[in-house]
Amino acid sequence: MDAAIRRMRAEDIPQVIDIEREAFTPGWVGTPFRRELNSRYCRFLVAYLTEPEPDGAGDGGDGDGDGDADAVAADAADASMWARMVRGVKSALGVGGDTEDDRLAGYVGIWLQGNQAHITEIAVRESLRGCGIGELLLIGTVRVAYEQGMDEVTLEARVSNFIAQRLYDKYGFNEMGIRKNYYADNKEDAVIMTTDHIHANAYREKFYALEERFHQRYGTPVIEL
Ligand SMILES: CC(C)(COP(=O)(O)OP(=O)(O)OC[C@H]1O[C@@H](n2cnc3c(N)ncnc32)[C@H](O)[C@@H]1OP(=O)(O)O)[C@@H](O)C(=O)NCCC(=O)NCCS
Repeated sequence: MDAAIRRMRAEDIPQVIDIEREAFTPGWVGTPFRRELNSRYCRFLVAYLTEPEPDGAGDGGDGDGDGDADAVAADAADASMWARMVRGVKSALGVGGDTEDDRLAGYVGIWLQGNQAHITEIAVRESLRGCGIGELLLIGTVRVAYEQGMDEVTLEARVSNFIAQRLYDKYGFNEMGIRKNYYADNKEDAVIMTTDHIHANAYREKFYALEERFHQRYGTPVIEL
């Protein structure tokens, strides 16, 4: 995996604001990151790019119709394509990769309220979408929820935000209702999406299986909560 996640630091804020502005314009209203970073009820994670592994690492499968081997091969091809893309994006962004701080790929904001971990924002740099980073941030969020003894993870999404809803649906978020006229810019409704009880066996098993599948597809990322 050529991305990892860790807690946001104050020096990340300018890059996070860039990602936020890109993701939520029009209608962008800046989050007071500096204030929220200091709150014990908030947790922010950032995803950053790491050095890609050489192409072909971990290739497998023989294309002979053996389902498991072919799935592994498809995942390895995804990973290899991802490695090439990351190199291209880094080069386009002019980021040399001297430190992780100059190549943030996305972030997630989480409020810890009562028994709920509430995702306030999640966004990935547009040029890096579709490569597993949003999913990695969501995995980090669910892990934070476990670590903090929360029972559920919840959020609001624009009813038109089909891509985000697909991601949440994959991780077992159910539609719980609608908040009418929730978004100030265009009065769009929000759909409320919430997981089942995350400590229930059924959810744990689903989450662990998704994490395992993620590792097979993209490799095992470093996750520091
Ligand atoms: C929503 C967002 C964070 C997803 O991040 P991402 O890195 O692009 O997503 P991933 O590559 O990790 O994809 C994870 C899952 O999301 C869904 N998904 C991602 N891109 C998709 C697309 N183009 N079409 C349909 N589903 C998509 C799929 O379920 C995917 O799982 P799969 O690969 O097994 O099909 C990203 O699109 C984003 O930053 N959007 C703008 C900000 C935003 O809308 N945030 C959500 C506010 S509620």
